[in-house]
Amino acid sequence: MYISELRLYHYRNLENSTVRLSPGVNFVVGQNGQGKTNLLEAVHFLSTTRSFRTTKVKELIGWGHEEGSVFGKIERKDFDLELGLSLEKKKRRVFVNGDETKSYADYLEKFVSVSFTPSDLEIVKGGPPGRRRFLDRYLCFYYPHAFEKLISYQRALKNKNALLKQQSADSSQVQAWNEVLIPLSFEISTLRREFLTALQPRAQRALEELAPADGAIELHLETTTFPKECQEHVVDAVRERYNEVLSREIASQRSLIGVHRDDVEIIVGGKSARSYASQGQTRSIVLALLLGVIELLEEKIGEPPVVLLDDVESELDEGRTRSLFNLAFSKGCQVFISGTDQAFVEQWSNNENQQIITVSNGAFSSSNNQNEHQNICMNS
Ligand SMILES: Nc1ncnc2c1ncn2[C@@H]1O[C@H](COP(=O)(O)OP(=O)(O)OP(=O)(O)O)[C@@H](O)[C@H]1O
Ligand SMILES: [Mg+2]
Repeated sequence: MYISELRLYHYRNLENSTVRLSPGVNFVVGQNGQGKTNLLEAVHFLSTTRSFRTTKVKELIGWGHEEGSVFGKIERKDFDLELGLSLEKKKRRVFVNGDETKSYADYLEKFVSVSFTPSDLEIVKGGPPGRRRFLDRYLCFYYPHAFEKLISYQRALKNKNALLKQQSADSSQVQAWNEVLIPLSFEISTLRREFLTALQPRAQRALEELAPADGAIELHLETTTFPKECQEHVVDAVRERYNEVLSREIASQRSLIGVHRDDVEIIVGGKSARSYASQGQTRSIVLALLLGVIELLEEKIGEPPVVLLDDVESELDEGRTRSLFNLAFSKGCQVFISGTDQAFVEQWSNNENQQIITVSNGAFSSSNNQNEHQNICMNS
């Protein structure tokens, strides 16, 4: 699958433009602060309905404007379609072929992407929220119905927390919210665990190639939703756990367990990567996870996902960047790669289908691989 055209309107500093995209490699080059990451973020946003930099929709709208939008033409093996997202101060609306849809599950399976940004290195060394975001981003492509479960869970958790904050909260009211949360917690942690189980051997293969001396990688979901030493992962075990902490939750006026506190333990060579991985090992682990995700999603959807690589020159060395490209090229993925140094990004080109998109102050100009300048971008 690939995106053949992107239409942006008041998306950050990208005012109003249409960009035609190559099905192969799109090099996005320009000085600092011109809008390269914004362009990749817009493609990621169209694919996931989320930004990789912020959770606030209003930050994505161009300064001084009330609304913005991102639309794109997606070419799939068996069909084409147009996807779109409109941005308003507090919400986003999603469109498939011009019609607004309420079903995120429907939307998410249409345009699947895998991104690398320098902040992804935090997956190994940073706190649990970064690992949950990474996990859920790809979980929602693997099981599109997971997205709505996560949204329902967040909504119910917010209500339960508001209730706990009231001095007068009684246990039956809290239990009523727990009854909404228990099946969702059970399903989300089950999906997350299944996803990690599927990812592990693929990440392992990738790590063996990148860093054969590092040893095996294991991915474990650490969750508070099952009792300790729980053997049977059934919904009643989750209920038992919620009941166990009920009185403590009321006393402390906050939720003490749930999938919003899940974490992924990454073990490499028998040791916790969070505690012991060196900087180079951290890069290999993150890359192995991404390569694993690309394979897993391709197997699941029957087509290679689109790959977005922001600023790899600053964070990945030559060997690791080459591994990423070799995999993306061998699978025929559409790739976006951004950087300030044209020579650096161009050294990875080995593909007929490619173009260079130069970004300057939020406006684009493009040239293809024969170096002919083409007017394939319209900025207005
Ligand atoms: N909502 C917004 N409206 C208008 N401009 C914005 C908005 N959000 C960010 N910007 C601006 O967009 C510009 C481009 O940002 P971007 O992160 O895409 O730069 P970049 O080309 O990737 O730079 P670098 O090479 O440093 O990574 C920045 O100067 C930033 O201030
Ligand atoms: Mg950038």
